[in-house]
Amino acid sequence: MSTLIFGHRGIPVKFPENSLQGFQYAIEHNVEGLEFDVHLTRDRLPVIMHDETINRTTDGKGRICDYDFDQLKEFKLSNGESIPTLYELLELVKNVDVLLNLEFKTDQIHYEGIEEIVLKQVSQAYLRHPVIYSSFNLDSLKICQQLDDSQNYCFLTEQTIRNPLAFLRKEHLNGLHLNRAQDDEGLIERIWTVNDEARMTKLFSQDVDGIFTDDFEKAMATRNQLLV
Ligand code: G3P
Ligand code: MG
Repeated sequence: MSTLIFGHRGIPVKFPENSLQGFQYAIEHNVEGLEFDVHLTRDRLPVIMHDETINRTTDGKGRICDYDFDQLKEFKLSNGESIPTLYELLELVKNVDVLLNLEFKTDQIHYEGIEEIVLKQVSQAYLRHPVIYSSFNLDSLKICQQLDDSQNYCFLTEQTIRNPLAFLRKEHLNGLHLNRAQDDEGLIERIWTVNDEARMTKLFSQDVDGIFTDDFEKAMATRNQLLV
């Protein structure tokens, strides 16, 4: 059984989603992978947040892309933290044995140049493991490939992809991130968002490549149970 467990936005069952506190807790508790979402501020700084707006997860209102970072950092998550920057997360994990899945949130807003800014920032962090880049926006992944075709790019989709291996070959991608397993022979697939124990057990037994979960500790305990 080799399914990797990714903390989806950190560990949102314990700490605010996409917060440094959650990421810190996760790495202190030996999380194998961390998934997080990236947008650009108006002054083109990559920050970590799921939504395009700060309405749901901070005490502020408005779109990330309408604020410069100096303004944005005044708004607080529910634990009092400012919205984390990508740089802060890279600093936190750079000497840690953890796999990162960076999701470009470019399907609603076109953040001109985000791919180049992000790839450059990550390459300058000299992480222990290559980052897995994903997006619902295939164009973002294509831009990334043109910038650096040696990285690991995965397409996020809710659709069933027919002939997934042919699709990946054609698009020069490494794998699919799906909300249900396709289970095609030889396909690299990681599944989100898996919080239910029975579903975890099934996916572990199918040996999918990874799962994204809001509770990585529960997933680790569930996987351990299957090993005894
Ligand atoms: O990357 C897996 C998952 O995070 C994709 O959906 O909306 O939670 O970012 P979402
Ligand atoms: Mg995500």
